[in-house]
Amino acid sequence: MTGEKGAEVVLRLDRITKRFGALTANDGVSLTLRRGEVVALLGENGAGKTTLMNILFGHYVADEGSVEVFGQPLPPGNPRAALAAGVGMVHQHFTLAGNLTVLDNIRLGTEGLWSRSDAGAREKVERLSRDFGLAVHPDAKVGRLSVGERQRVEILKALYRDARVLILDEPTAVLTPQESEALFATLRKATGLGLSVIFISHKLHEVMAIADRCVVLRHGRVVGEVDTHATDKAALAALMVGGELSLPRAEARAAGAVLMRIAGVSTPNRGASPGLKMVTLELRAGQITGLAGVSGNGQAALAEIVGGLARPAEGRLSLHGQEPKVWTPGEALARGVARIPEDRHHQGSIADFDLTENAVLEGYRTRFSRRGWMNWRAARAFAEGIIKGYDVRCPGPSTRIRLLSGGNMQKLILGRAMAVGPDIILANQPVRGLDVGAIAYVQSQLIAARDRGAAVLLISEDLDEIMGLSDIIHVMSQGRLSPGFARGTMTAAELGLWMAGQKFEGAHAA
Ligand SMILES: Nc1ncnc2c1ncn2[C@@H]1O[C@H](COP(=O)(O)OP(=O)(O)OP(=O)(O)O)[C@@H](O)[C@H]1O
Ligand SMILES: [Mg+2]
Repeated sequence: MTGEKGAEVVLRLDRITKRFGALTANDGVSLTLRRGEVVALLGENGAGKTTLMNILFGHYVADEGSVEVFGQPLPPGNPRAALAAGVGMVHQHFTLAGNLTVLDNIRLGTEGLWSRSDAGAREKVERLSRDFGLAVHPDAKVGRLSVGERQRVEILKALYRDARVLILDEPTAVLTPQESEALFATLRKATGLGLSVIFISHKLHEVMAIADRCVVLRHGRVVGEVDTHATDKAALAALMVGGELSLPRAEARAAGAVLMRIAGVSTPNRGASPGLKMVTLELRAGQITGLAGVSGNGQAALAEIVGGLARPAEGRLSLHGQEPKVWTPGEALARGVARIPEDRHHQGSIADFDLTENAVLEGYRTRFSRRGWMNWRAARAFAEGIIKGYDVRCPGPSTRIRLLSGGNMQKLILGRAMAVGPDIILANQPVRGLDVGAIAYVQSQLIAARDRGAAVLLISEDLDEIMGLSDIIHVMSQGRLSPGFARGTMTAAELGLWMAGQKFEGAHAA
């Protein structure tokens, strides 16, 4: 009943301040949410969005300010009280147990797994998944689900606990465009049923599509609050960064020598993900090679081969015209291949290591060790150089990396990759989860590396990014690689047909 929208205030955050040592992550933030409303919370990486939501949910205690849910004050630092009051949080990083079923995950923490009849719980979950359009099988093992399905489980879990306020922290950062659309359909159903949503995203087109109102944070403060229908993407971006901003576009350039060549490579299928099918690809100096396609079409298998995590079982890989004898991440790095991995949490970093340790992970370590002894002073200086050069906002190199905001973590990984002056850069979804300013920065760094003569392999689901940066574009679909298309020779619509797999048959016959 959208007619009721705007009536009842369901949530009120009043002048919340939170400090971490010298850093003020939230500075007098006030926010209200009404019944049936979607409020988007926007702001640069490190602006304080997740911190604010963690205070609301009781993970952190605010230094000042208060929270009210349905008119009742919420006791600080008490997630159970937040849950009981009807607040449900879907975290930026999922918290499900992979070895349990969907049903058990949903019940976990709410009730002992054997306490209530399984049938009652199952019925409720089935009803919720119908009502909210959250298709997922109650008996499936969570570990086998796709990212989009896991997210549905997280939302079901919140709904199962009778949440009336849903907090979604960057829910679409890990979704394909189709999955995002399905999520929005669910959110529309939820608000239609009188639930209220706080939606955090860096993707402004999504915010424009789903939110009624936007609240913008900068350096921990609210700098703007606007009705979505009274604004546009450019105005929101300007509010976020405090000025005009445009994304870099790479100008065309002549390519140099082939630095890496992959020829006739095939890999086995892995579960639902297709393996590579006779893929041949050349990465040339001074060129950005864009790889477009929906995630899960073989990009991961290709990235593993380029980055040294796997050797092609079938087909060949050569660097500067020679086949490497050993092929490991350390060896790849030693030969000038740097990686910006797709999943910065699991492949790019170790959460409980500090920034120095993360800066010298994997092959980087050997640069700072001698006869088995680590030179920690040099490692620390290396980390400090990255922190300074790449504007990684953090207390210092001894901070554990898991305390960094997503964007700042990515800047550290980018800085680490660039610091060795690589010949070949594997950039896998390099701007995922980054704010508009950080995106412009990362992309300009990739262009600068190309202009220095590096070969860049840019893997991205974002066609605008691929078309804006790539000198040559290939499309991956079902493990197959399209021919390369030079800059400006293809429209987004044509690339879309390749992404959908419709063009491959013709090309193979030719
Ligand atoms: N537990 C903590 N200890 C120290 N500093 C922290 C902690 N949690 C967050 N911070 C810092 O507070 C600031 C705000 O972080 P927060 O995660 O809220 O940002 P965000 O707006 O969610 O950013 P992103 O868009 O990158 O997710 C950052 O500078 C971050 O490093
Ligand atoms: Mg965050």
